[in-house]
Amino acid sequence: MDIRTVGVVGAGQMGNGIAHVFALAGFDVTMTDISQDALTASVEKIAQNLDRQVGRAKLTEAERDAAMARISTTPTLTDLGKLDLIIEAATEKEVVKHAIFAELLPHLGPQTILTSNTSSISITRLASQTDRPERFMGFHFMNPVPVMQLVELIRGIATDSATYDALEAVVAKLGKTSASAEDFPAFIVNRILMPMINEAIYTLYEGVGSVKSIDTSLKLGANHPMGPLELADFIGLDTCLAIMNVLHDGLADTKYRPCPLLTKYVEAGWLGRKTDRGFYDYRGEFPVPTR
Ligand SMILES: NC(=O)c1ccc[n+]([C@@H]2O[C@H](COP(=O)([O-])OP(=O)(O)OC[C@H]3O[C@@H](n4cnc5c(N)ncnc54)[C@H](O)[C@@H]3O)[C@@H](O)[C@H]2O)c1
Repeated sequence: MDIRTVGVVGAGQMGNGIAHVFALAGFDVTMTDISQDALTASVEKIAQNLDRQVGRAKLTEAERDAAMARISTTPTLTDLGKLDLIIEAATEKEVVKHAIFAELLPHLGPQTILTSNTSSISITRLASQTDRPERFMGFHFMNPVPVMQLVELIRGIATDSATYDALEAVVAKLGKTSASAEDFPAFIVNRILMPMINEAIYTLYEGVGSVKSIDTSLKLGANHPMGPLELADFIGLDTCLAIMNVLHDGLADTKYRPCPLLTKYVEAGWLGRKTDRGFYDYRGEFPVPTR
């Protein structure tokens, strides 16, 4: 299947990164969002990020202009119906995603592939409520999309091989690398990464080390580019807690229980970088550990 036109539903941090990389790779991209402000901000953000790449000599001005010309926006979800590939990157709530697919379905061409960028919701369950579970997949980009090399490809139980092969070819055209994951809670990256972050928080909670000593240990002792607590703040502590809850509920194993200290930070509204405070306080010139 030849995929040329792509619809992105949800113009948040993931949607704008996804639109950016597809437009640069030569696909025509149409973005939609329930918020006109989000659509406007997203196009501005893509322009800024492309300008930054031009500034670093990673792109020419002509490539930037061609990419921007391939991006359009619409407030009307059903305008995406005739496109070859839909990537749903809206808010991580199952009811929101079901409602988006239900509204789109009557307008879709028979060949359109539907995908979701969800970090945790069952692909099989999302697919089962559409008319095309064989052409439905998990298409999991990493944040920030223009920088991160990996895309997880997640088959639902009914996904056919033509759909998988088509998306694998799309990932190659983006210049990224795919990894295949089965449809179990949190797939591969978050299944491994989140318990490590949660264990780092237990290590802090039990007083084995301070924020600084835990992050320094993993950076210099395991060669990680960021410490686990610094990384948790970058991802968002609410997101970390949500993914631990998906693992705990979905796999029913106590080894996935979220650390009470993680819950406490989330209850305090200390969600990491996005709220200026998490395991570090970002309000001053330099991040300062909060424990
Ligand atoms: N943030 C991450 O690190 C990350 C990484 C990988 C995958 N994801 C997944 O990507 C998806 C989006 O996450 P995000 O971080 O970009 O969220 P975000 O909050 O930045 O953006 C979500 C956007 O969806 C829009 N939206 C909500 N309901 C909608 C609807 N009915 N129709 C159209 N648009 C709608 C919102 O207005 C918002 O602009 C989620 O499924 C999330 O799990 C996030």
